[in-house]
This record gives sequence, C-alpha cells and structure tokens, in this order.
Amino acid sequence: MQCSYFDAHACRSCTLLELPYADQVRGKEERCAELLGAAPDLQWLPTVRSREDGYRNKAKMVVGGTVDRPTLGILDAGGRGVDLRECPVVAAGIRAVLPQLARFATRAGLTPYDVPRRRGELKHVLVTESPTGELMVRFVLRSDRALPRLREHLPRLLQEAPRIRVVTANLLPEHKAVLEGEVEVALTERTTLPMPLGRVELDLRPRSFFQTNTDVATALYAQVREWVEEVAPSTVWDLYCGVGGFALHVAAPGRHVVGIEVSEEAVESARLAARGVPGVEFAAGDATAFALASVQVPDLVVVNPPRRGIGEDLAGWLERSGVQHVVYSSCNPETLATDLRAMPSLRPVRARVLDMFPHTPHVEVAVLLSR
Ligand SMILES: C[S@@+](CC[C@H](N)C(=O)[O-])C[C@H]1O[C@@H](n2cnc3c(N)ncnc32)[C@H](O)[C@@H]1O
Repeated sequence: MQCSYFDAHACRSCTLLELPYADQVRGKEERCAELLGAAPDLQWLPTVRSREDGYRNKAKMVVGGTVDRPTLGILDAGGRGVDLRECPVVAAGIRAVLPQLARFATRAGLTPYDVPRRRGELKHVLVTESPTGELMVRFVLRSDRALPRLREHLPRLLQEAPRIRVVTANLLPEHKAVLEGEVEVALTERTTLPMPLGRVELDLRPRSFFQTNTDVATALYAQVREWVEEVAPSTVWDLYCGVGGFALHVAAPGRHVVGIEVSEEAVESARLAARGVPGVEFAAGDATAFALASVQVPDLVVVNPPRRGIGEDLAGWLERSGVQHVVYSSCNPETLATDLRAMPSLRPVRARVLDMFPHTPHVEVAVLLSR
C-alpha cells in the first residue's frame, strides 16, 4: 500500500508499511506460533488476510489548525495539527465525508482545541462506518458551549451527507490524553448505528467497543461459530461480550448463552440486538467476578478480553472449573500466551491468525481449547 503521509514522514503509525503484505502476515504467523509453542494436537488454520487499504471502519481524528482551516489527523511533537484526511487505511466511505465535516466545523465556528495553550473547543472527530455505508459521527468537545451552534448547522450537514445517520457530541472538559469523555449528547433522533455482520445485526452505541476491521471481524465470528457448532454445547458464556458479537453468532435453538460485559451501554446495545433471539441474555459486570461468583459451570466459555488479557484470576478459575472448552479470541498474543500457561489442562486444538490490523504489529488470534 502506498501512503504519501508515511513517505513524507508526516505519520509513521503503520510501522510495517515498508514490508510487503505477505511478509507482514508471515511474521505475525511466526510470532503467534512461537508464543503458543508446540502443542501436539494443535492445528493452525490458514490465516484470514485483510484487504490492505480502507480496512478501518473507524477514524479517530484529532482536530488542529484554525477554525477556518481545521486539520483532521494527528498532532505533531509541538502540538500542531497534521492533516491526514486521506489516510489510506481508513474506509473510503469515511474519507469521503471528512472534508464535509471539516467545513461543518468551520461553519459552526468550532475552534480546534489548542493543546499547548489549552484553548478552543473541538478536540476530536470520531467517525464509524457500518457495512451498509451508514455513518456515526461524534464531535468531542471541551464543553457544552458550542452545542447550540452544532444544532443550528446540523440540518445542512445531514442534507449534504445523507449517509450520516447518528451524530453526537461527547464532552471532554479535562486536559487529558484520552479520546473521549463520560457525557454523550445525542444530536440526531437515532442514537444507534445498525451493524449487520454475517448472520446477525448488531447495534452500536457511541461509546461501545467495536472490532476495527468489519471483514475480518465477520470471518472471526463465523470461525468461532463453526468451532462452537463442532462442540455443540448446551450452555455458553461470552465474557467481555461488548455489543454481543460472539453471543449472538453462537446462539442456537436449545442453547443458553450468557454475555457479560463491564460497559452498561454496550450491554444495552447487545440486548437491543438480541430481541427475538431466544436463549440469549446479557448482564453488565466484571467478567472475573461473574465467573468466580457463579455456581454453575457452562459447557463452553468464549473470552475476548482487552489487550491486557484475562489475567490470572479468571485463567485460574477456568483451569479449576472443569469447563470442557474455551474459545479465546485475543488481540495480544503475548498476554494470550501468559494466560494459556495459567490453564494447562485446557489444550489448544485449533488456532487461527486473523490479520485485523494490516501494516501494524497488532494481530488477532483465535484459539479453541479443550480439556
Ligand atoms: C476486545 S473487546 C471485545 C468486545 C466483543 N467481544 C466484540 O466482539 O466486539 C473487550 C471488551 O471487554 C470489555 N471489558 C473490559 N474490562 C472488562 C471486565 N473487567 N469485565 C467485563 N468486560 C470488560 C470492554 O468494555 C470491551 O467491550
């Protein structure tokens, strides 16, 4: 993939970009195989490759520059805006709308937040695209002062860019290096973005996690469903379930599936998507606390934790619990390997690398473990 920003040293985030894609994939396969070690029964399935460009369904643009000429991209070492609106790993449907969002910010008089001086209003613009091409746009603001101007100019933006279905303002008053704050203000009637993926339709709310690469996520859910069908469990837990992707894909007649997720908002989305699907329920809570407090042990547990992994308490519980099968989908093979060492009775039988994040060292790996 060619990237003029990379060549000009304006952005070097895609650290593997100079390696041919086939070599990137081979490197990730070798790293995952080494980390998981030689397990006698382990079968590696062919890697799920990604398209090389336009694979990101979410753009997280830091706003810089001036109100008349805002930049959407990153900040340089001096805190000045670097415009990356043509970033080639971002989905084309998102790239197409970024100039319209920049013009909207100018019309609404949203002064870019100046990090060194701690002045201004507009900090970030976050855009997510669903597989249908519909968009959710979030303006991260320092305060609610600009909300009336946002509301005033919004109808024209929605007319010019009809694929935008959900717009919110997120308030981040603190001067902190985080992407978003706690308060979300809906500016459109619709507040969730429907995400049809494979055999289910998920519903994404503004602050919920969603897998970065829609095509590879679709393959991941299909793979996990296949493994679960092979085992044919009657009871399944989906721990770290987010908006319910795994739980809803593995639902089947006669099967009881429980999804556990710490974000209440994600649980609300999962419940919305599960309407009409029998045998699936979701609850908000900590995955480890849920397992440790549970009297019953399911036939199969799916875990898909953040980069830190499941940790020794949950791994220890899985080891002791007697659960027969675990599907572990990890975005960090290093913590996956540590967690697997803590549950030696559960042996990897199938594994698959899924290249969710081309041109970066990040990789998703899914493993089916059986006792
Ligand atoms: C990698 S995402 C997986 C989401 C989901 N499985 C999916 O396919 O979209 C990790 C999720 O774990 C949630 N999470 C983080 N810490 C948690 C905890 N202690 N207990 C339960 N969920 C947690 C996050 O909110 C996030 O939704």
